[in-house]
Amino acid sequence: MAETERHPFLKGLSKHRGAPPTVIVIFGASGDLTARKLIPAVYNLGFDNLLPADFFLVGYGRKPIPDEEFRTMAASAIREFSRRELDPAVWARVAAHASYVSGGYDEKAAFDKLAAHIAGIEKTLGRDVQSLFYISTPPSVFEPILKNLGASGLAGKYLGQPHQSKVIIEKPFGRDLESARQLNSTLRSVFAERQVYRIDHYLGKETVQDLLVQRFANAIFEPLWNRNFIESVQITVAEEVGVGSRAGYYEQSGCLRDMLQNHTMQLLALTAMEPPVSLDAEAVRDEKVKVLKAIQPLVLGPGGDVVRAQYGPGLVAGKPVPGYLQEAGINPQSATESYASIRFSINNWRWQGVPFYLRSGKRMPHRVTEIAIQFKRPPGTLFAEGGRFDLAANTLSFQIQPDEGLSLILNGKIPGLETRTQPVKMNFRYATTFGSNTPEAYERLVLDAMIDDGTLFIRGDEAETSWGLYTPVLDYWRSQGRNGLESYPAGSWGPPGADALLGKSGHSWRKP
Ligand code: BG6
Repeated sequence: MAETERHPFLKGLSKHRGAPPTVIVIFGASGDLTARKLIPAVYNLGFDNLLPADFFLVGYGRKPIPDEEFRTMAASAIREFSRRELDPAVWARVAAHASYVSGGYDEKAAFDKLAAHIAGIEKTLGRDVQSLFYISTPPSVFEPILKNLGASGLAGKYLGQPHQSKVIIEKPFGRDLESARQLNSTLRSVFAERQVYRIDHYLGKETVQDLLVQRFANAIFEPLWNRNFIESVQITVAEEVGVGSRAGYYEQSGCLRDMLQNHTMQLLALTAMEPPVSLDAEAVRDEKVKVLKAIQPLVLGPGGDVVRAQYGPGLVAGKPVPGYLQEAGINPQSATESYASIRFSINNWRWQGVPFYLRSGKRMPHRVTEIAIQFKRPPGTLFAEGGRFDLAANTLSFQIQPDEGLSLILNGKIPGLETRTQPVKMNFRYATTFGSNTPEAYERLVLDAMIDDGTLFIRGDEAETSWGLYTPVLDYWRSQGRNGLESYPAGSWGPPGADALLGKSGHSWRKP
């Protein structure tokens, strides 16, 4: 049965998005992200007929790889990681236009070779194509790639025209304010801001986009969406996995840089921003920057706004797992945090006095990303039982993943002759209403970059504003070594300090 027959709401959603003839060049073509996300995204766009008729995929990397081998690698990546099985006919269409160019990232001659390769594609086609450069490499080579894209003329190709070149840049976008500024300045020396697409894959998630729809397409929320009715907001990005095989990266990063400064902060910005005047990229990003600028500097030190911790040994999904310090490749004296929680105060008319609590960690009880809007408790003597007043606070929670959906906790009457209350939950589940085979974040983002829509990408000033809030925390932690670093058993919801962070305002963490 067709997806639309099973889920009639899918009907009427236009799939047509017109992208101009495009060549996507992936730098870091033999890397993990390329195999896990980028190649499957391109394949699924092809499956959905969303790639332009003239679409070319070019892998670029240091290792010389024949075109045929690159295509074989791509096909096995699709088999392993795509949300859909590999359909030979669909893949044949994409693979027919897939090729590979090898060269160093700091080698100007190799970029000239790439430019000639793209010019060759245009010549065969008999028309111009837009070039989309996807930088999916370690950050150490961002600079040379950008500079060589400039020097080879690739960055400025067709500048000012609808098919001008574009660059997509993966995180980490800097490691503090200073390095983010430096990266922005290199980018701007080569590309205009409107050619730059800084990716945060959380913005490509269906449910994150649904947050905008829920907030601004429903009249019932906006009147309540402020300090008069909302007690606090909790944003949780919990992972069950540990550091895995990424010790080298993670030791340099830690939870704050890996999750909070970017993904979690995007969730905060979309939850807290004012309604934009349109869904135009600048209108949305202006509002996000405005609300980020209204966030107050964090109070550091004991009893302050930030808690950090490392997981110790524990049980996850019933299995014993080692602590962070015992993981392969981790320095046994490491001060890198695998968990952090923060209390933000937003100083504007809408939010003054409403704490925004953010937390993220590895080795938590299960994987869940959720935004919970906790409303003020209803005033009440009407339903006090035995003199005890314990109505639940209404809570609206957006479950971003997994089991995507939205739920609202209300107080209801327990059937019976007495008037007794109990919290009840209203639930909307994506999978039930729309089916579960929704596009992956990278599909949406690659497509948006192809059609010039920067709404779901981070603007340069936005990245810097966020780093401005986090850099003092990183500096402070560095000065403290392991001092103040707490511990939590793997498989738990975090350290005692995280409970104390909320406890002093009479709040407590949800267990989503
Ligand atoms: C990445 C982080 O950006 O996001 C990873 O580097 C993390 O450490 C991942 O596991 C989580 O993404 P998702 O989409 O699985 O929630």
